[in-house]
Amino acid sequence: MKFFTLAAFAFAPMFVNAIPTRRASSSGFLLQNGVDAINQNNQFKSLTTSSSCTAGENACVNNEFAQCVSGKFVLTACSSSLICAALPLVNSAGTSIACTTQSDVDSRIAATGATSGSSGTTGSTTSVSTSTATSVSAASPTSTSGSSGNGQSSLTLLSSVIAKGFAQNGQGLNTSESGEVASLTSTNNFINFCATVPDQPLTNGQQIKGGSCNPATMGSIPSTANMPSAKFVSPVNMDTIPANTSFTVSLAISGISTGFFTNADSNYFAAPQQLDSNGQIKGHSHIVIEALSSIQQTTPTNPTKFAFFLGLNSKADSKGQLYANVTGGLPEGAYKMSTINTAMNHQPALVAVAQHGSLDDAVYFTVVASGTKTNGTTKAVASS
Ligand SMILES: *[C@@H]1O[C@H](CO)[C@@H](O)[C@H](O)[C@H]1NC(C)=O
Ligand SMILES: *[C@@H]1O[C@H](CO)[C@@H](O)[C@H](O)[C@H]1NC(C)=O
Ligand SMILES: *[C@@H]1O[C@H](CO)[C@@H](O)[C@H](O)[C@H]1NC(C)=O
Ligand SMILES: *[C@@H]1O[C@H](CO)[C@@H](O)[C@H](O)[C@H]1NC(C)=O
Repeated sequence: MKFFTLAAFAFAPMFVNAIPTRRASSSGFLLQNGVDAINQNNQFKSLTTSSSCTAGENACVNNEFAQCVSGKFVLTACSSSLICAALPLVNSAGTSIACTTQSDVDSRIAATGATSGSSGTTGSTTSVSTSTATSVSAASPTSTSGSSGNGQSSLTLLSSVIAKGFAQNGQGLNTSESGEVASLTSTNNFINFCATVPDQPLTNGQQIKGGSCNPATMGSIPSTANMPSAKFVSPVNMDTIPANTSFTVSLAISGISTGFFTNADSNYFAAPQQLDSNGQIKGHSHIVIEALSSIQQTTPTNPTKFAFFLGLNSKADSKGQLYANVTGGLPEGAYKMSTINTAMNHQPALVAVAQHGSLDDAVYFTVVASGTKTNGTTKAVASS
């Protein structure tokens, strides 16, 4: 790599820190530097000599070193066979702009572990703005490339998180079973999947009744030793309880760290499933009670209709139970009561293996007019 020097550019060193040094742990900044360099190089591809710029800004335009003078880039060619590019710094956080070879750019970025993720991706996908990504300001360190080097604000997929197994469709393997359909495949973790269903809005944290496409990754999956399970303590299966009388539902729950719930109107499905320090899903449960035509109903219920629904947002008590008051009770009839165990952003719990016992419970009970014999273990509670 050669650092181009030019006498006429006395005030403009050709090797400049494009992003001022940020405080970052030595283990953290390398990867982020690589990601930053990729983003800047992608951004440079969209620049021309007519792009506007701000004083002090350095960039690469048409593979030449570019410095902003009076709102316009002034170009200085690199020597033949060299190109202008952003490179990750090695000893501190940040990037540099230099004249070098394409292979040097590639190997320096590869050494950080960063990758552009998708070979078909062009610079147009980055939203890092040129002025912020490349402005030099020693006085006010920018944080435009975001976090502490862990990739969580980068618009570029880190090579360390690419699931290479997603690239094969599952067909013709020694584990294949007849009738299996080919899986959709991806070499970039499906990060842009929702662009393939442009008729669907992004879920974007909302509960969109017409349907949507959710771009959040699935997240942390607990071990088989930490799968949620639940069993109703009251009412129990086949109980008979009095009509229009408040009662308390008790639910025993295990294998999940209860008491975690996010805003369901603004953060629905909006973050990956997360685990607590014991490896259990941080989440919460719900109960839903649906009216049946009879206790022997054989047709599927209509999920848009239910007699009672409640999120059980508390932490389970010392008995490992959660509670819900069904104030005013239920009219006479047959009912199905189910749990919905979810992660904190309301997505159904995801576990490590396909074959497992139910993560939820369902019981069936009958509500009868007062005066009829009841046998519920259900505790009546005062109406409020
Ligand atoms: C499939 O093949 C792999 C190696 O190619 C082997 O490790 C695995 O045990 C095989 N699985 C089955 C179900 O035969
Ligand atoms: C309650 O009574 C119903 C109807 O007599 C019966 O089918 C059911 O098994 C009883 N349930 C319990 C828990 O005793
Ligand atoms: C249910 O109602 C009882 C009596 O009003 C009250 O003490 C209890 O805290 C309520 N439980 C829940 C889970 O709301
Ligand atoms: C329960 O309430 C419903 C109306 O909510 C009413 O139609 C029904 O007769 C009541 N049943 C009893 C046993 O009071």
